[in-house]
Amino acid sequence: MNTADNRALRGLHVAIIMDGNGRWAKGRGLPRLMGHREGVHRLKEVVRACPDLGVQFLTVYAFSTENWRRSRREVTGLMAMFARSIRREARELQKQGVRMRFIGDRSGLSPVLQNLFAWIEDLTADNTRLHMTVAINYGGRDEIVRATRAICAAVAEGRLRPDEVSESLVSDHLDTQGLPDPDLVIRTSGEVRSSNFLPWQTAYSEYEFTPVLWPEFDRTEFERVLHGYGLRERRFGAVTA
Ligand code: IPE
Ligand code: IPE
Ligand code: MG
Repeated sequence: MNTADNRALRGLHVAIIMDGNGRWAKGRGLPRLMGHREGVHRLKEVVRACPDLGVQFLTVYAFSTENWRRSRREVTGLMAMFARSIRREARELQKQGVRMRFIGDRSGLSPVLQNLFAWIEDLTADNTRLHMTVAINYGGRDEIVRATRAICAAVAEGRLRPDEVSESLVSDHLDTQGLPDPDLVIRTSGEVRSSNFLPWQTAYSEYEFTPVLWPEFDRTEFERVLHGYGLRERRFGAVTA
């Protein structure tokens, strides 16, 4: 990627639906959890690449509110993997200047995981090189419901008038409060749907769907997708001269 591309891409917010771990494992006759484990390696590779490629915000979908429907073995394995990865990677993330943040309904997660989230968010709070957000027990509709409840409570208690409810006020009540909206959403594994990922925030995002399975999504593929994004024209409803 040349410098002109890098300049054009500075400050990007890229969101990724990391899909295809199970199929990757199945194709190799391995248990699904091995696919998730390989996926963690690809995520580390992508995180390392972001600052060089002009990506300042990275948001990844790791576990949806719908993923509880999977086998107990898979769910338990994923939760253990999240906890392990936070403990193992904390020092490296700190070294790379990554600020960590988690979105989703934490109340549905174990106290151990909740404490690890709070610990690493606090540890990395002053970092600015890459703002990384991980969606765990995240569902876009669930997020909007929780935001709506908070807004209704403020109105009921007389702290807010209904006519003060605006787009920016809604945004400020979402888990992503303070984050810019994603510029680009990437989904791996060939599925062409959003699966309840950031429905409010992606209203005007570009989408890129790649057939590559997440455990095979390496830096080269990431660069290819970002380059394609750089060639797009974003009009936001207007007409270009
Ligand atoms: C995405 O990979 C990771 C999670 C949802 C946790 P999948 O596990 O959905 O992989 P496929 O779609 O079954 O291949
Ligand atoms: C979306 O992938 C959730 C994550 C990547 C964490 P899924 O594999 O769960 O989505 P569906 O079921 O194919 O829509
Ligand atoms: Mg999937």
